[in-house]
Amino acid sequence: MTKKILVLPGDGIGVEIVAEAEKVLGALVNDFGLDAEIEHGLIGGAGYDAEGTPLPAKTLEQGRNADAILLGAVGGPKYDTLDRALRPEKGLLGIRAGLELFANLRPAILYPQLASASSLKPEIVAGLDIMIVRELTGGLYFGEPRGVETLPSGERRGYNSMVYTESEIERIGRVAFDIAMKRNKQVCSVEKANVLEVSGLWREVMLDVAKDYPEVELTHMYVDNAAMQLAKWPKQFDVIVTENMFGDILSDLASMLTGSIGMLPSASLDKHGKGMYEPIHGSAPDIAGLGLANPLATILSVSMMLRYSLERADLADVVEAAVGKVLDQGIRTADIWSEGMTRVGTAEMGDAVVAAMK
Ligand code: IPM
Ligand code: MG
Repeated sequence: MTKKILVLPGDGIGVEIVAEAEKVLGALVNDFGLDAEIEHGLIGGAGYDAEGTPLPAKTLEQGRNADAILLGAVGGPKYDTLDRALRPEKGLLGIRAGLELFANLRPAILYPQLASASSLKPEIVAGLDIMIVRELTGGLYFGEPRGVETLPSGERRGYNSMVYTESEIERIGRVAFDIAMKRNKQVCSVEKANVLEVSGLWREVMLDVAKDYPEVELTHMYVDNAAMQLAKWPKQFDVIVTENMFGDILSDLASMLTGSIGMLPSASLDKHGKGMYEPIHGSAPDIAGLGLANPLATILSVSMMLRYSLERADLADVVEAAVGKVLDQGIRTADIWSEGMTRVGTAEMGDAVVAAMK
């Protein structure tokens, strides 16, 4: 059956990088037998500009009807002074919550060709392959109560809540253990159980889930230590499972181990495996429109989509091999460029990947 893919370019470099990923999708449809049709929608600042809201109702509806969603990035300085409810980020959080995309998979894989682009020593990052499983629809990002209030003294007080139910912890735990079963069978659950009650519950539930996966080794780590260990000896990790905001922070850190945040894709899945795929980087307003952005994270997001939502792992292999080939050829966007390599812009990188697929 023809799969429906919803494409949401969003803002800033989102527009440019998604265009390159669409070239790859186009080649997959035209030359590799992918049975899919593409539809476009508005989100973030683009949604606000056109419809007055970062998540137009039509976009959510399109998302419900799609088999998979490809998203660029949202946000930009132009929107920073808007009411919080109208900001682009709210559109992204809204579609994650609205479609119940609770499981965010963020692989941090080092391409051997980029070992020198990492800020860490090559021997520390060589062969790095970590999967961060970030809970995406709960925790500190969504917890109630939240707000800013004015105290009788006139002083203002701001607050957010890190909230998880047992079932929310259990379902993200199962995703992490299932993934670990297909990898090196190690799960590290990251929390702050020495301080936070919610983390104590998180640890208890993870221990329960682990009983169903006797082959998987479960360890626990406080988030501050996890940040340190990621920088010190990242290869000790296989699968990391963690709370929404902890995962936001640790995945940015992990991305840098691989040389550039411009390389890392992500998948956000619901309980049926339907997913939204996006690079983990933002809209990079400083380079938006200049044709400098690295489209590889978005192209690799297409590959995750093929694997997790479109049941075409064979084509995911084609895309990943093409990216590897382009890196072998020494083709680099500015973020991963080093002496002796061929520096290219966004569109040339996309074209190079399409050419390498053939
Ligand atoms: C991410 C981003 C988002 C997040 C922002 C843009 C709301 O940083 O996907 O990691 O915090 O989840
Ligand atoms: Mg982030």
